[in-house]
Amino acid sequence: MNILVIGSGAREHALFKALHRSPHKTSLFCYGTAINPGIHQLTNQYCTGDITDCAAVVSMAKLWGIELVIIGPEAPLEKGMADAFWQAGIPTIGPKKILAQIETSKEFARDLMQKHRIAGLPRYKKFTTLNHVEDFLNELGEGNYVIKANGLMGGKGVKVAGDHLHSITEALGFCQEILDKKQTILIEEKLIGQEFSFMCFADGKKLVPMPLVQDHKRAYNGDKGPNTGGMGSYSDTDHRLPFLTPNDVDEALAINKAVFQALSTECGEPYIGILYGSFIATKSGIYVIEFNARFGDPEALNVLSILESDFVALCQAMVNGNLTEENVKFSKQATVCKYAVPEGYPDAPQKNFIVDFSRVAHQDHLYLSSVNQVDDQIVAEGSRTAAYVGIADTIFAAEQHAEHEISSIEGPLFHRQDIGTQQLIQQRIDHMQRIRAL
Ligand code: GLY
Repeated sequence: MNILVIGSGAREHALFKALHRSPHKTSLFCYGTAINPGIHQLTNQYCTGDITDCAAVVSMAKLWGIELVIIGPEAPLEKGMADAFWQAGIPTIGPKKILAQIETSKEFARDLMQKHRIAGLPRYKKFTTLNHVEDFLNELGEGNYVIKANGLMGGKGVKVAGDHLHSITEALGFCQEILDKKQTILIEEKLIGQEFSFMCFADGKKLVPMPLVQDHKRAYNGDKGPNTGGMGSYSDTDHRLPFLTPNDVDEALAINKAVFQALSTECGEPYIGILYGSFIATKSGIYVIEFNARFGDPEALNVLSILESDFVALCQAMVNGNLTEENVKFSKQATVCKYAVPEGYPDAPQKNFIVDFSRVAHQDHLYLSSVNQVDDQIVAEGSRTAAYVGIADTIFAAEQHAEHEISSIEGPLFHRQDIGTQQLIQQRIDHMQRIRAL
């Protein structure tokens, strides 16, 4: 079977590794933005170009005789890449454009939750001018709001009072920036608690959950520094998280299911792909931060590293609409993923330097990201360089493994030493206990 993956980062490297482990006989193809050497060695054919150019990608796929497509990032989904492939008769994992709005339009996502009375919706209002913005900020209270641009802004579309916005003047300034980009403003109440990611496979009819994961957005140890694409993440042996109650997990899954149902009612199309709820556990229950229409990065690395099922069979079940829990088995192990990123990342990253991975002892769970193959050397491009996933019987043993391996990558890089450590996990548990007791 000829399978195409669109995208060439660590998430896609994890997808390729999972496909490559399948007992099915496959030929793998990549349409990416750069030559990721980790992916390159697993593929029959590899093409670089604009991964949002639907016509070009579909035409290359036809040339290659592709029979199944997996779309990695959100940008091609926003452009209708899945629609283009289904129109060409090629089954595709990744929702069509109208359904992908659950990620690409925050306004759509919040309005859908409101219309279908889905739990976990924070207070919010939309604005297309600055009129009444200040009133709503004052209503929510000082330091108690989050301001979001409606559409995709490459991770720069959300600012949180207290973290990024320190006065009404700064808040109004950010609102004006959003309007200048011709986007709607969403203002929401700020939620206090612990965030977590809950991804599910979807076959158009049902959702099957994956292990829960906690990502770490801030660049430096102790959750300090600027926001990033995600510096690392962990999952636990029971596929839950140490700071969540069983009821929290049930609530989050019920919200994912309700949104999945509402999407198919509203859009009249089956949702085939990944539905990824980004949640926060608070004093008063589970709330939705946002939804994504794809695998998380780094979360995909955690879950795909412990996927026991045949990933090709799982993908076929998704596109054929006959997915069952039997298709989706993960080993009962903990994972800790750590990203190595260039010095200066994310604001002023070093670029175009050589990275040496030869001292990484167990390369099975090394995932290359923002790198390019130039002659016979691997050159870092400036975003997250590579990730390593430690797997063990406890989070702490997995952390030690990940820490050892990520430290052995040579180049002007840094990583967070604290992700998955006993101290940081205990802080998460203590934090939840404190806020639940309030
Ligand atoms: N882990 C965050 C994201 O994939 O959007």
